[in-house]
This record gives sequence, C-alpha cells and structure tokens, in this order.
Amino acid sequence: MSIDVRPADSGRPVPRPLPDLALPGLPADFVWGTATSAYQIEGAVDIDGRTPSIWDTFSHTPGVIDNDDHGDVACDHYHRMPQDVRLLADLGLDAYRFSLSWPRVQPGGRGPANEKGLDFYDRLVDELLAKGITPWATLYHWDLPQELEDAGGWPERDTAHRFADYAELVAGRLGDRVRHWITLNEPFCSAILGYHIGCHAPGRKDFRAAVRAVHHLHLAHGLAVQRIRSAVPTPVQVGITFNPSQVYAASDSAADLDAARRADGMGARIYLDPVLRGQYPPDVVEDLAQLDVGVPVEAGDLDVIAQPLDFLGINYYLSDVVAAGDEPGLTTRVPQPDRPVTAMSWEIHPQGLTDLLTRIGRDYPGTPVYITENGAAFDDSVYGTGAGGRIEDIDRTVYLAEHLAAVGRAREAGADVRGFFAWSLMDNFEWAYGYDKRFGIVHVDYATQRRTPKQSALWLRDAANAHRGR
Ligand code: FCB
Repeated sequence: MSIDVRPADSGRPVPRPLPDLALPGLPADFVWGTATSAYQIEGAVDIDGRTPSIWDTFSHTPGVIDNDDHGDVACDHYHRMPQDVRLLADLGLDAYRFSLSWPRVQPGGRGPANEKGLDFYDRLVDELLAKGITPWATLYHWDLPQELEDAGGWPERDTAHRFADYAELVAGRLGDRVRHWITLNEPFCSAILGYHIGCHAPGRKDFRAAVRAVHHLHLAHGLAVQRIRSAVPTPVQVGITFNPSQVYAASDSAADLDAARRADGMGARIYLDPVLRGQYPPDVVEDLAQLDVGVPVEAGDLDVIAQPLDFLGINYYLSDVVAAGDEPGLTTRVPQPDRPVTAMSWEIHPQGLTDLLTRIGRDYPGTPVYITENGAAFDDSVYGTGAGGRIEDIDRTVYLAEHLAAVGRAREAGADVRGFFAWSLMDNFEWAYGYDKRFGIVHVDYATQRRTPKQSALWLRDAANAHRGR
C-alpha cells in the first residue's frame, strides 16, 4: 500500500509504503505495549493533595523549557484516565507502562501515603486489568518531591532511603494486582542531565554531585527491589530501565578507541555493572579519580545494589559515534550526516539497537530484556477533523517497524528480548522541549484534549495481531 504524505523532516522520499507487518524473529508470546510517564501526561498538579516535584519547579522557571511550557495540564490524563484506558483497549496491545507521581502518592516525599493519590493508580490498575491489559508500573520517572531536593536531592544518601519507603507504600497498595515493577527510569538522565548538564530538573551543574546521584540512585533501586519483593506476593517481576549508550569509535586510532571506552563507561557500564555485576567498572572509577571525583560507596552498598532482577528494561533512541576531544580526557560526538534524523535531530540508527542488545546479551547474560521505550518525534501532518481525522505518520511507523526488526535481528543473534513498549501512547510534555515535539502514536489536540490514533498506532496494533496469529 502506498500513501501520500508531505515531505517529513527526515528528508526521506515520499510516498513510501507502509512497512510489512511480518517481523522475523519476534515470537508469538512477545509482549507488545506502549509507555507514558506521570508528569508528561497527568496534569492536575495541585489536586487531591499532590505537592510540587522538581519538574514543577523547573518547568516554571522562565526560559528553561521551550515556549515556557509546563506540565500543569499536559494531557489531563488524571481526569481522562478511563477514556485513555479505553483507547488503549482499542489498540489491543498486551501491556501498558505508566509511572507513578511520587509527590501525588507521598506528598513531600516522607511520611504516610496520600490515599487520594494512591486511589488514582488503584483505579488505573483496575481499569487496565478489566480490559485485559497488563500494568507495568514505573516507580520513578524523574519527578522527585521538591522537599527532597531542598534537602539535597539525589546527591544525598538519605534520598535513597526515602525512595525505598515510597516503593513500599506503592507496592503494599498495588502489589496484589501489579506483577511488573520498574524501580527507576533512566538514572543517567536523573543524575547527569539533572545534576551535571542542568537541562533537566533540578537544573544543577555540578559533576561531583551528579556522580553522587548516580550511586544513590543505584542504592535506591536495590533497596526498593528488596521492599517490593517483601510487599508483593509471588510471582512478581522486578527490573530497572536504563538507556545505555551504544557507542562506536570514529576511527581505530588509540585516542578515538579510548574516547569510545570512556563514553561507554560513563554512558553504559557505570549503570549496568553495579546493578548486574555488583561492581563499578575499575576503568571508570580510575577516570573519575583522575578528575578527583569519587563514588560514595559504603560497605555493603554493592550487595544491596546488585539484587537479582527478573528483567532489564532498555530505552533506545539513537547511538553515538565518538572521537577524542580537543583536550585529554574529553570526548566529542561525531555527527553522521548519512543518517536520517527525527524532529529531535536524533539520528536514526536501528542497527545500533541490534548491536546494543547483542552486546548486553553477551556481557550481561541471564537477565531477560524488554525494550521499555523506543519511538520518534516527527512533525505530524493532520488530515481532516473530527473523529475521522487521520494522522499519516509514515516516518514514525517506519521508525517503529525498523526498530522492531532490529529487535528481531538481535533475538536471532541470541539476545533474550521479550517485549517492546512504544514511546509514547500519546503526544505529551517532552521535558525541556515542551509540547512541540510529538512522540505519540496517538495525537493529542491540546486545545480540546481530543485523542486521535495515528497510522503508527493502527500499524502497531496490526503488527501485534499478526504476530499473535490472530
Ligand atoms: C526518554 C524518556 C521519556 C521520553 C523519551 C523521548 O529519555 O524516558 O520520558 O522523554 O526519552
């Protein structure tokens, strides 16, 4: 089938055919899902006892978010949840990954649960289960209660203990029905973007603090795994979601190879190794020591951090080709002009996902992997209005198909990948980029809050059905 769309910003030729539904390598029991996160969709930021998170504070700081957008209303999912679950049911996917807002569940990040906040997630879980959709709950997708940031945030060890208490509150309430738990989403972003680069909340620029944050996020994860396992009856599946860099050296020169080693160390192994191997990579610790930066490990921490996991979540969007920087110890990312890009200017490189999954299967064997996020922002064309409105997002559809095919290739090469969650169920607040960047497979008209499934959503539905042999 061939359809006409306006030239998309990937610069690829149009019209282009819809991708084939048959994706070699994906088994009949592969899990097909979509994902969202609380601050990006819920809105209702000061309702039913919720207190501010670092993202409320950050997004209301003038000039830090495109268009000065914020999540006050977002997709108004807090008020439209039942309709959104009906939408999910219409797509017929197996699973839905959502996150809980910590300051909605435990305002201020300490003390007893806010029952009204928990009630919302309780209803969400019931709605999902009633429609045959498996809930996958992420405990932390970046919205730290502001009070905990005021007390020092993730660079402070105590924040890990606060997180463990919060995890227990949630698991105690939802654990009779939620079987799939993700402790943290992308601790790289929480630590490095939040405390070093400063482009994410809380917007600090302090590398030492960021490295402390990395360790305390790991500790928070390990403590939370223990609490979840004691609060939730078996069988329970507990994991964590990382976004490890897939790094390639720009050349075979010793300097570029060392740059790739360092980029891989700080972008992948500093997360994967403590959690899956119970140790920080010695070369990374040495690189940090040369910068006079220490990892604040205390006795017994690594045993807590390396809890056995039921699965590893991987988020993948792009890969990195790196070269040595101008000064010793610096690396630089080398753009690849032959690769098409998304509206984020992120280079499209599905083979990077195959390579990443193959490498994880080889270097960290024994833990099943789920792709907990993959997707793309494009400037969608909207054809027609009303219920019949169509969004023919061929670029996003092809992106998803190419990455699902990349997962299939990794499986054929031996990687144990068991599912795929498209980011995102619907257009939403894309952090520092605000609402202009649309990742949804469902379009959101923010003026009316009308949802319209895009062609990518219908293609994903059909691909999932084709693989289940329905
Ligand atoms: C990931 C985030 C997710 C979304 C996508 C585009 O890093 O986990 O919330 O912003 O990027």
